[in-house]
Amino acid sequence: MKNFHEIAPEQLQKTPFQMIGKEWMLVTAKKGDKVNTMTASWGGLGVMWGKNVAFVVIRPQRYTKEFIDASDSFSLSFLDGAYKEKLSYLGSVSGRDEKKISKTGLTVAEENEIPYFAEADTVLICKKLYQQEYQKECFLDSSICERWYPNSDYHTMYVAEIEKVLIV
Ligand SMILES: Cc1cc2nc3c(=O)[nH]c(=O)nc-3n(C[C@H](O)[C@H](O)[C@H](O)COP(=O)(O)O)c2cc1C
Repeated sequence: MKNFHEIAPEQLQKTPFQMIGKEWMLVTAKKGDKVNTMTASWGGLGVMWGKNVAFVVIRPQRYTKEFIDASDSFSLSFLDGAYKEKLSYLGSVSGRDEKKISKTGLTVAEENEIPYFAEADTVLICKKLYQQEYQKECFLDSSICERWYPNSDYHTMYVAEIEKVLIV
């Protein structure tokens, strides 16, 4: 297992555009003794209510949503490019249908009982503060709604406090 140490969020070296948008992340949570994860490339890092926060958006059909909803916290794991194929797999198959974590060979570790991946080089431990499902009538640009939600499966946005940043 890599030797993680804690840094402050403002010490992160990469931009969220690179980390989330280009390199992707694994959103991971626990429900009872089960863990599920999914790949995400939408979301952000910033400041809200005087706290450092991450936000993620999860469609209703994702199995991972059940895990995030069942838990106070979740993690965001950032893995280097060598793991991109595994991230593609974890982002195209549901944990409902396959034991996808064990198929990737990735290792689940825990920080205060919050699961993350030992192969990551950056991990954000996040505590949920706010959640809200996107609503059709709130889109000011209706073309976004038409393009991304033809089936009305609006994402739920979760804003979460970044409680810990672990890096290798
Ligand atoms: C690159 C990439 C980015 C993705 N980003 C998101 C996202 O931000 N939100 C979301 O709901 N699904 C996103 N997905 C889709 C989920 O990862 C995918 O549906 C996954 O299989 C869900 O797994 P689960 O059912 O086990 O939760 C993304 C998939 C890929 C490949």
